[in-house]
Amino acid sequence: MNIKLTLLTAACALALSACGDNSPPPAAPDAAVAPPTAQPAAPADTSAAQTPAAADATPAAASRAPAAGSTAAVVNDCATEIEGNDAMQFNVKSIAIPASCTDFKITLKHVGKMPVAAMGHNVVITTAGDMQAVVADGMAAGIDADYVKPGDDRIIAHTALIGGGETTSTSFSVSKIQAGTEYKFFCSFPGHAALMVGTVTVE
Ligand code: CO
Repeated sequence: MNIKLTLLTAACALALSACGDNSPPPAAPDAAVAPPTAQPAAPADTSAAQTPAAADATPAAASRAPAAGSTAAVVNDCATEIEGNDAMQFNVKSIAIPASCTDFKITLKHVGKMPVAAMGHNVVITTAGDMQAVVADGMAAGIDADYVKPGDDRIIAHTALIGGGETTSTSFSVSKIQAGTEYKFFCSFPGHAALMVGTVTVE
């Protein structure tokens, strides 16, 4: 009994001190300006109940935010769907292809609203070493070629170039991805590969 009471007391003290740490900034100015009305409106029980909830929500949101930027693509049945948006971003940074797959399909969904000429997206896969040259040659090929040089054999696979609200896909033989070589997926629209890029691996 004594131990339980001691733990409860300690827990309450921690909760109150945690509450006390968070509450003073907003509460102090109010209390200083209007002590009689502001104090009863914010009873200790209410703030004690809300503070832990707020404390729980903040770390959860914070841990989700960085994860979103480094998320691996969800792969099901040798296929994945990734998104491109109007902020020139893919929603994933890596695509891991199961080694058991013979062919792999990537579907690209443009979840933005901007037209293809302003915010076009595609998915192009090459080795990391070929990427910059393929981007440069794609730019030279122009938008009518979906910013992909026709017949470019450095390209493992590529989708069409699409605008907001559109979806496209490409399938390719996984045997084209060789062990010991680094591969990238990226958007070859001029300027986009700086942000819209991630890794492709076979695992
Ligand atoms: Co793009």
